[in-house]
Amino acid sequence: MDKNARTVVSITVFPGGKNTNKNLVRSQKSMDIIVMPTAAEAEFLTARIIADAINAKPFYKLGLATGRTMENVYAELVKMNKAGKVDFSRVISFNLDEYVGLKGTAEKNKDSYRYFMNYHLFNHVNIDKRNTHVPNGFAPEDELEAAAAAYEEEMEDAGGVDMQLLGIGRSGHIGFNEPMSSFSSRTRVVTLTKTTFEQNSPLFKKPEDMPMRAMTMGVGTCLDAKRLLLLATHKEKANIVAAALEGPVTSMISATALQLHDNAVVVLDADAASKLKYKDEYAFQFANDPKWAAYQPVARKSSRRKAK
Ligand code: F6R
Repeated sequence: MDKNARTVVSITVFPGGKNTNKNLVRSQKSMDIIVMPTAAEAEFLTARIIADAINAKPFYKLGLATGRTMENVYAELVKMNKAGKVDFSRVISFNLDEYVGLKGTAEKNKDSYRYFMNYHLFNHVNIDKRNTHVPNGFAPEDELEAAAAAYEEEMEDAGGVDMQLLGIGRSGHIGFNEPMSSFSSRTRVVTLTKTTFEQNSPLFKKPEDMPMRAMTMGVGTCLDAKRLLLLATHKEKANIVAAALEGPVTSMISATALQLHDNAVVVLDADAASKLKYKDEYAFQFANDPKWAAYQPVARKSSRRKAK
C-alpha cells in the first residue's frame, strides 16, 4: 500500500459515545480551536475527548505524546479508568517518539519515554502493555533505520492511528520534528535543536546527559492519523501557538502542518491562547458547534450562545 495515501473515510465521533455519522466521507473543514480558562480545564477536556473517543470505538488506535503538558491529561485518564468511565482493555497505542542514545533498557531508564508512559499511564490503567508501542530508540545503531521502518509497518498493520495526541515544543515541533522537517517525513532518527535542548535538558539529572538524537514519527506520519488532538498550555507556548495556528504553513514550524489536516482539534488554556488574533471567533464557534454541545461548561440558556 502506498504509505502516503490518506484514508478519507472515517467515523465521526460524537460526544456521549453516539456514532450518528458513520462512514461519511469527511468534508474539508476548519480546525477546531478550544480555549479553556485554565490549564487544568484544558487538560481535563483533552482527557474527556480521548475517553469519549475510546468509548465510541473500543478497539481504538491511540497515538500518544509525552512531555510536561501531558502529565495531568494522563492523571485524569487514570482517574476516569479507575472510576469505570473509560476502558483501555482493547486500546492499541503508538507513542510519537523516543530518545536515541540512552543507556540500559527503555523500561528501566527513567529518562526514556517508555518509562514516562508506564509511570504516568500504562501502569495505572487496564491497557494490555503488549498493545503499547514506543519507537525503539534503544535499538543498536546499525538497526535504528530498520526499527523506524518497522514502527511504520506496525501502525499500518494496526489499520492506522485513529487519533494522535500532540504537544508542541518551543521550536514548533510536533513529535520531535524540528524545523525543516519535511511534511512527508516518516518515522526516522533526527538530531534535536538547541531550543529543544534548552526546553528538555532541565528534566535530566545532569542536563548534559540529554541525548541529542531521537526517533520520531514524521510529520507525514502524524498527518496520516484520522484525527489530531493538540494540547498546549502556559504562557511559554503563546508565541509558537499563534505562529502554528494563524501563521503561514511552513516546514520551519512543523505544527503548522495541522492546518493541512481536515480533522484537527486544538485545546489551549487562556495563557497559551493569549497571542491568538481570532480568539473570539474560535470561542463563538466552540459555543455554537453542535459537535461540542456536550462539552460546554454551562447549560445552554439560548440556542445562540455568545462567546465569552
Ligand atoms: C513528546 C513530544 C514533544 C512534546 C513537546 C512539548 O512526545 O512529542 O513534541 O509534546 O516538546 O513538551 P512539553 O509538554 O514538555 O512542553
